[in-house]
Amino acid sequence: MNQKMNVLVVGGAGYIGSHCVRQLQAAGHHPVVLDNLVFGHRESIRPEVPFYECDLGDRDAVGKILRDESIELVMHFAAFAFVGESVTEPRKYYENNFVATLRLLESMLDNGVKKFVFSSTCATYGEPETLPIVETLQQAPINPYGQTKLDVENCLKSFAHAYGLSFAAFRYFNAAGAAADGSIGEDHTPETHLIPLVIDAATGRRENIKIFGTDYPTPDGTCLRDYVHVDDLSRAHIAVFDKLDIEGAAHFYNLGTGRPSSVREIIEAVEVVTGLKVPVVEDERRAGDPPALYADASKAQRELGWQVQYPNVKEIIKTAWRWHEKNPSGFGG
Ligand code: UFG
Repeated sequence: MNQKMNVLVVGGAGYIGSHCVRQLQAAGHHPVVLDNLVFGHRESIRPEVPFYECDLGDRDAVGKILRDESIELVMHFAAFAFVGESVTEPRKYYENNFVATLRLLESMLDNGVKKFVFSSTCATYGEPETLPIVETLQQAPINPYGQTKLDVENCLKSFAHAYGLSFAAFRYFNAAGAAADGSIGEDHTPETHLIPLVIDAATGRRENIKIFGTDYPTPDGTCLRDYVHVDDLSRAHIAVFDKLDIEGAAHFYNLGTGRPSSVREIIEAVEVVTGLKVPVVEDERRAGDPPALYADASKAQRELGWQVQYPNVKEIIKTAWRWHEKNPSGFGG
């Protein structure tokens, strides 16, 4: 087990970041949160966690936080992540996801902080030719969102080689679920993700759930995705710490359960978990949705000892439902 670390969590008030902060606390580390609160929720961070409302691209401010808090490792979750918007407004995505990340890395190098954990995505693979997806598969993103994440991955490789930065980039599949105690969970504006939308349709907050495409070459005609619990994702970020002791280390890992669920299966699972009927409308395909995406995460299992604690999507949905029951309108009531 590694020593306890002072960790700056950039985007720590967002969905995945806030869960990671809780896991860092549970493991005895010292998280410090930086978030500009554009998408993050201040309420998701416990009062004892140092919090800085700041842009990650503000080099001077970030440099000061790195020094004042004696930061040893930076985790970076802050990004714009609406795939459709990235197609119509790519400037925003290159600016926020790539340029601002470059500024963050510069602040780190200027201040001698050389350990970095990065949120990447399965969207860097584009439309994979073989399944399940292994890390060595060619990366060919089909939208600017995926491209900006891949650009950061490539930048990290060069920085590891040239400047001795040690990093791990995690390619998430579909992050889902909420903290087991229902205290924090998913709250995006606008919400575009399937599980919270289906829950809203079950409770009547939305009129229905539209299934985007029922004619895919999959067993029930709807898209297959690999839903992985947000706390399982978070644990991998901590399990990788030891690997970053070696200067210039460069690691890439898929994080998914390897067990895909279809859109229809998610709707059925929400009905079972909530005991409510979900009104469904069959709709056209959504542009840019590959028929199936699921992970081979055996590298993370082998190298990090990573085992998912939520292999079953119903158990993941139960946590999302508990969060929803406790906080029907999300953060801030
Ligand atoms: N879906 C519907 N109806 C909806 C919403 C979604 O049928 O109202 C379907 C989608 O078509 C897709 C599945 O549900 O087949 C999951 O959709 P999400 O929007 O929840 O998630 P995505 O798979 O599109 O997106 C996720 C991450 C992105 C990442 C992408 C990579 O949230 O950040 O995977 O493909 F870019």
